[in-house]
Amino acid sequence: MKNIAVFASGSGSNAENLIHYFNDNQRGANVKLVICNKQNAGVVERAQRLGIDCVILNKEQIQDPDTLLPVLEFLNIDVIVLAGFLLLIPQFLVDSYENRIVNIHPALLPKFGGKGMYGRHVHEAVIESGEKETGITIHYVNGHYDSGNIIFQAKVSLLPDDTVEDVEAKVRELEQKYFAQVIFDTFCAK
Ligand code: GRF
Repeated sequence: MKNIAVFASGSGSNAENLIHYFNDNQRGANVKLVICNKQNAGVVERAQRLGIDCVILNKEQIQDPDTLLPVLEFLNIDVIVLAGFLLLIPQFLVDSYENRIVNIHPALLPKFGGKGMYGRHVHEAVIESGEKETGITIHYVNGHYDSGNIIFQAKVSLLPDDTVEDVEAKVRELEQKYFAQVIFDTFCAK
């Protein structure tokens, strides 16, 4: 059985989906822990409602190996899934969890990635550059934003008058459809 920790900073719709997919079914993995860097984030309330341990750590605590690693070790965490987590993953964590940290990005990397490219900013940039399609990218995490090896991408067409909300809705649909399945295929199906 693999133990998953989800790192999130926002509303937590992806975290909730992962929790339902794994914890409601026998899939060889369970979400054991949510780590969040924002006390008021929606994901905190979701984790509580779903009965998943949730630890709030600030930026300094996330960057401190003596704080973060014992939390992960205590629950025997094998895999870390970033689902809307806005802080850069420190190098000590990348090294400790080599090829066991994945992120979902709401666009087709390598386009529209990097520092500051999150949430609405991504979708605004996609619209501004007149893209005909966007999508999701699920990738391994290295010590830089949005640049680790790509595991999976899915695309969706855009219409000329799509708003940021339209693009966001299309991307969220892909996230809900594929994210948990790709985590399963990557870490559990072997
Ligand atoms: C998602 O669009 C995800 O792809 C991105 O941040 C957003 C998080 O949404 N990295 P939520 O907090 O899971 O609802």
